[in-house]
Amino acid sequence: MNEHYPETFLKGAATAAHQVEGNNTNSDYWVMEHLPHSQFAEPSGEAVDHYHRYREDMKLLRDAGANAYRFSIEWARIEPVKNVFDETQLRHYAQMIDECRAIGLEPVVTLMHFTSPAWLIREGGWENPEVVSYFAEYVRHVAPILVGKVRYVCTINEANMRLQLQELMKSYGRQKTGAGSGVQVGINLKGDLRAGMQEMAEAFGLSDPRKAACFISPATPEGDRLVMQAHQAAREILKQADPTIQAGLTLSLHDIQACPGGEQEADRMWKDEFTHYLPWISGDDFLGVQNYTRKCVNAQGSCEPDHPRGRTQMGYEIYPEALENVLRKVAGDFKGTLIVTENGIATDDDSLRCDFIRKATEGVKNCIRDGIPVKGYFYWSLLDNFEWQKGFSMTFGLIAVDREHDMTRHPKESLKLLDSL
Ligand code: BGC
Repeated sequence: MNEHYPETFLKGAATAAHQVEGNNTNSDYWVMEHLPHSQFAEPSGEAVDHYHRYREDMKLLRDAGANAYRFSIEWARIEPVKNVFDETQLRHYAQMIDECRAIGLEPVVTLMHFTSPAWLIREGGWENPEVVSYFAEYVRHVAPILVGKVRYVCTINEANMRLQLQELMKSYGRQKTGAGSGVQVGINLKGDLRAGMQEMAEAFGLSDPRKAACFISPATPEGDRLVMQAHQAAREILKQADPTIQAGLTLSLHDIQACPGGEQEADRMWKDEFTHYLPWISGDDFLGVQNYTRKCVNAQGSCEPDHPRGRTQMGYEIYPEALENVLRKVAGDFKGTLIVTENGIATDDDSLRCDFIRKATEGVKNCIRDGIPVKGYFYWSLLDNFEWQKGFSMTFGLIAVDREHDMTRHPKESLKLLDSL
């Protein structure tokens, strides 16, 4: 272990079930990916078949020097039909956890990473107050496979994403560009947005497109609170099942930088993105920090930086220093353990990725040196994978996958960096 990190520092990489597993057919995303006017560049299909190849993938990660793996359990697999829980799928995830332990990776498990069962959306999704008890029921069924085996559980990935989408919609209207936002709503030019939304409502048996509230849809303030209530309910269940489980959620956090005149707007954004959640998360055991870039802000909202750097495939400014800035800011208000649950860059130039990781983790070390309790760093992502609306064209991975032929894994040089972190 590097001298800059505490002994127990978790270092690894992250994935999310829908983005890597393949054939998540009972999920809301599967439905949306197959609409005639889909906003998705392509469907997830077999993804990178991690469902069957997780052992090989975990071994590559471990052999590269990592000691932890963050992955998610897929609600739509566990509860494909409301109130019908699939024991075979629960066993599958139990085996993944066992495999991690067996080869020396600490499993960090996420219970909800954007995708929901399609039935949930038919019931009003993440705007229906019942989502809290639905999610709790799912967690109650998953808890037994975590007890005694998983120390860190992220209840909900980027629990602030729904509110960020609201923000993005506003700035999209203003700037007609989503670049640099750090969120995934990239409007795909192939799809016609209105037709897509209408089809989506119909596909879920809803007459009003606004009622099709999947997790990645703009939230009302009430919808935002429901996410927090779902998180708290999950936390209670986990703690009752095993008080030693460390429970937290993850947030998508930008390094928000005020340009002259943008100070107030920057404060407002940070409050929306982070501080207004503090009352809901102050009892958590840790906070998962997810950061990809900075966001410059003037009095009108997001703006171009004065001296912009290059951009990633996603269109985000390449700004690895953002991670240190965010960790420092968060630590000012959240007095608990921080884990970097995602940080990464989409690029086909692996030397750029290496450079990004080195700079970002330098920032982590600086924070630790100053006494900020950062207990882990997970690069996003272990594998090139299904980047939501953008399909497979975004290459975030430490490992490339030959999807054209036989799904062969091709580790990149950057994978080796985990050893030296
Ligand atoms: C999400 C991932 C996504 C990554 C890159 C994060 O916001 O948690 O699912 O792939 O960003 O866009």
